[in-house]
Amino acid sequence: MAATWSKKQKAFLLLLAVFLMLTIVGRLSYSKQFHGLLCAARTFHHFVTSDTNGPVIPNEDGVTFWTENGKPKKSMPRKISGAKAENIQRQIKLKKALKPPKPSKEIRIELATGGKAQRLPQAIIIGVRKCGTRALLEMLETHPQIAACGPEIHFFDKNYKKGLQWYQNQMKPSTPDQITIEKTPGYIIAPEVPELVYKMNKNTKLLVIVREPTTRVISDYTQLKEKSTSWLSKATFEGAVLDGNQIRSSYKAVQISIYVKHVLNWLKYFPLSQMHFVDGDKLISNPLPELKAVEKFLGMRDVISSDMIYFNATRGFYCMASEFNTKCLNSNKGREHPYVSPELMNKLQDYFRPYNEKFFKTINQRFDWP
Ligand code: A3P
Repeated sequence: MAATWSKKQKAFLLLLAVFLMLTIVGRLSYSKQFHGLLCAARTFHHFVTSDTNGPVIPNEDGVTFWTENGKPKKSMPRKISGAKAENIQRQIKLKKALKPPKPSKEIRIELATGGKAQRLPQAIIIGVRKCGTRALLEMLETHPQIAACGPEIHFFDKNYKKGLQWYQNQMKPSTPDQITIEKTPGYIIAPEVPELVYKMNKNTKLLVIVREPTTRVISDYTQLKEKSTSWLSKATFEGAVLDGNQIRSSYKAVQISIYVKHVLNWLKYFPLSQMHFVDGDKLISNPLPELKAVEKFLGMRDVISSDMIYFNATRGFYCMASEFNTKCLNSNKGREHPYVSPELMNKLQDYFRPYNEKFFKTINQRFDWP
């Protein structure tokens, strides 16, 4: 039976068929043109149905419509070509360029701590133990440009496996114009340490405080005898430093006082100009000139004065004064030394003299030692 269709019905069926075909083709292939068509239709729909009447701002993903209250409403994939597309790209680039960069982790910490951050040290007091390393550090700390790390960190000689970040985390927070400094007197005698410090920062400034080598041995003996549970706790000073009639060169305290041996290790990695030698005996008797020399070596402002470092007669040593308080070192600094006979003193001084001469030549500086 032949159906009789009116013209209107035929036209409606044709339109329906075309619509169905377009939908199927569109779903299957999602061609470029069809995508463009869809995009245009959605844009049109958006303008007609939404409350959008603000400017159209391009972004990286497409077009963002801004509502009246200034909030982005919708983003669409961008499929615009030609000059218009170039213009949009240019605007995206400009937007990117004007956007302030995200601050680095370090800067974020600095902002959160009022400009302070933990930094790796630019200067290290590498030794020598019992020569006044603590006094030097604490006296330097009176300078506002010094951020000194209190405890001995022993990073390069004992904690290297913990990594540089761990080391940095031990440092006192500092501002960019401050110098972060730590002291670990064990560094100077550890042969592997110069290379490790060099690897961290070849520009590290090295401070070495030395004292007349025999006095240093006596000081070393006095401290370790007090703490020791080994043979040393029972040994007299003479018994510790003498093997028969000879100086016991295997005694560690004697080895440490052969400064030239240790300094030569450091000079394999650092130029002499990066090392500064402080006179530990003068730091006891008249510290200011020593401190002024360090101030200069570290490139700091001329600040430390006699008002800040004063002689405390009760303590028998120089102490530190700030606007608010005064501070002397603990009583474990400046211990009473045992009696040492003049003969043994001479013997020890004779032993060290040739090493001292080598030391003076190596560092181009002399100390007033017998
Ligand atoms: P003695 O205890 O043998 O007298 P270090 O800090 O390197 O361990 O050195 C300790 C030495 O620092 C002490 O040795 C002490 O003489 C000396 N020193 C220098 N200046 C000092 C000060 N202002 N107060 C106390 N001790 C000081």
